[in-house]
Amino acid sequence: MIIAIDGPAGSGKTTTAREVARRLGIARLDTGAMYRAITLGVLEAGLDPQDSNAVEDLLDSLQVDMEGDRIFLNGKEVTDRIRLSDVTEAVSPVSAMKAVREKMVSLQREIGLKQDCVVDGRDIGTVVFPDADYKFFLVADTRVRAERRLKEQADKGENLSLDEVTRQIEMRDRMDSSRDQSPLKKADDAIEINTSNLTIDQQVQRIIDKVESNPNVTMKESLMTE
Ligand code: CDP
Ligand code: CDP
Repeated sequence: MIIAIDGPAGSGKTTTAREVARRLGIARLDTGAMYRAITLGVLEAGLDPQDSNAVEDLLDSLQVDMEGDRIFLNGKEVTDRIRLSDVTEAVSPVSAMKAVREKMVSLQREIGLKQDCVVDGRDIGTVVFPDADYKFFLVADTRVRAERRLKEQADKGENLSLDEVTRQIEMRDRMDSSRDQSPLKKADDAIEINTSNLTIDQQVQRIIDKVESNPNVTMKESLMTE
């Protein structure tokens, strides 16, 4: 079973995917983290994140591994490091490169085909797993998304202004939606959920309700309470 969750930055994908996977007792794959790890590799090599030839040459030397919610670049854990601003600023141009997408999509399919999985990203329901059993597209107002991110950045000790975070989000939305390769867009058969006025629990429940309504799916929690 594949549950695809796509949507723009701050719409709630990560939080929702993690909790849905926990409740269903299945794996979760954060594809954004994979693009972030590659971007960190590009920055650490001192390359211009817009230089597709240089990034392509480097790509073979970058190995990304996932272990639950932890991510490793060339064997070194980068789980927290990839959330910092320098990576956030550079990730959209790197993710728009064809060679980067080909490498990541093939790794995502390899991981997703081995197990039941909640997969979140930008192109999961459209490109990576177009035949996913369930597809959701989360959206939320830009201001709400920026405020959520601002709070997260402050918790991490990065003191950006609301304007700066809004600018980062709008820039990424624009680049992710307008690129030639796998642009961010809702799959025709995805269910859209606007999370602006929902609690995390409510948005998780919407997805769980949909999955639970399928008689072929056995919930881990219902098994536990029986
Ligand atoms: O969590 P947040 O929404 O900030 O972003 P993310 O999911 O960590 O993704 C970071 C970036 O990776 C996005 O802005 C996209 O440029 C790229 N990405 C992508 O191109 N395709 C995906 N399936 C997932 C992420
Ligand atoms: O992965 P994505 O960028 O789509 O969003 P996220 O990282 O799951 O959510 C961004 C932040 O918003 C997290 O700190 C969530 O806890 C928070 N959030 C929220 O406060 N209320 C919601 N209804 C959804 C998410």
